Amino acid sequence: MLIAGKNFKNNLLLAPLAGFSDVGFRVVCSLQGAEITFSEMLSAQALKYDSKKTKDMTIVHAKEKFKVAQIFGHDPFDMAAAAKNEVLSKFDGIDINFGCPAPKIVKNGDGSALLKDLPLLSKIIYEVKKATTKPVSAKVRIGYDKNDIVNIVRACEDGGADFITVHGRTKTQGYSGFVDLEAIALAKSVSSIPVIGNGDVKDFLSYKKMLSTNVDGVMIGRGAVGRPWIFAELLSNPVGNIFDLLNIHVDLLRTYYPEKWLTLYLRKHFLAYANTFNAKSDTKKFLSTSQSIDESLKILKAESKHFDIF
Ligand SMILES: Cc1cc2nc3c(=O)[nH]c(=O)nc-3n(C[C@H](O)[C@H](O)[C@H](O)COP(=O)(O)O)c2cc1C
Repeated sequence: MLIAGKNFKNNLLLAPLAGFSDVGFRVVCSLQGAEITFSEMLSAQALKYDSKKTKDMTIVHAKEKFKVAQIFGHDPFDMAAAAKNEVLSKFDGIDINFGCPAPKIVKNGDGSALLKDLPLLSKIIYEVKKATTKPVSAKVRIGYDKNDIVNIVRACEDGGADFITVHGRTKTQGYSGFVDLEAIALAKSVSSIPVIGNGDVKDFLSYKKMLSTNVDGVMIGRGAVGRPWIFAELLSNPVGNIFDLLNIHVDLLRTYYPEKWLTLYLRKHFLAYANTFNAKSDTKKFLSTSQSIDESLKILKAESKHFDIF
């Protein structure tokens, strides 16, 4: 896969996932084959005001192969300043969020609200591109309330984006219904820049369907939560010991974040792993209220032994 003049070994990307794509998770996905990893969405306003919470989300690791910081906002100059912010200097690329459908984001004119104002969307990309020498990408949906992907692709190209990721749903759809593979194929057919397909890839079949749209790469989000080895599975590479991966995820986070915070934070990742292992409801109940990371790990270790990778 060739993106922004750089050759990647495979075509798999880990999606930005607010509340999930922490540095430990990104490293585990990278070890399993994800070539490009995205940070959680970072507010341009929060970066401007030096927010500690946002800074904590900008930790990166050398084991990530190509690290992209995703920013959101609606003021082209604030977005350009965010792209230049020192705390993002360790990232290899800047991505702009034009897809988030969350009401609190849209009501501010950020995320998918910009799909309704394509000249502004273009201008944001243009100013960000001017502010950095790093590749700049745009993550979009196929439209706000209807399929408008051709105009969206044009607006991204006009702004100077190096590549686009298309989540095959409208803003109005949220996460409901099915991903529109035809709209993704259309985006690819009209685009002069690489197109990454995104949405509902969770196994070989859905991966093959996404590849049938002719996209340059495939981004995986929810399919990797609780199953970061999905990248190795799709690449037909050995996964290794699953519990070792869980330990890498946790140990890495422990080097950066306080135990008390991490104990609460990790519950949702542990639950996701437990779901993948088909753990019993008692186990999941324990994990969702656990006060000890080590106790949770002990239980997950036992559960992981019954789990077969396909
Ligand atoms: C919990 C959660 C958090 C997300 N956070 C972000 C985000 O920060 N930035 C973004 O562009 N998309 C975000 N998304 C959307 C995903 O990146 C992706 O586009 C979407 O989930 C569809 O892909 P999937 O079916 O592979 O998950 C999020 C989705 C979920 C479920």
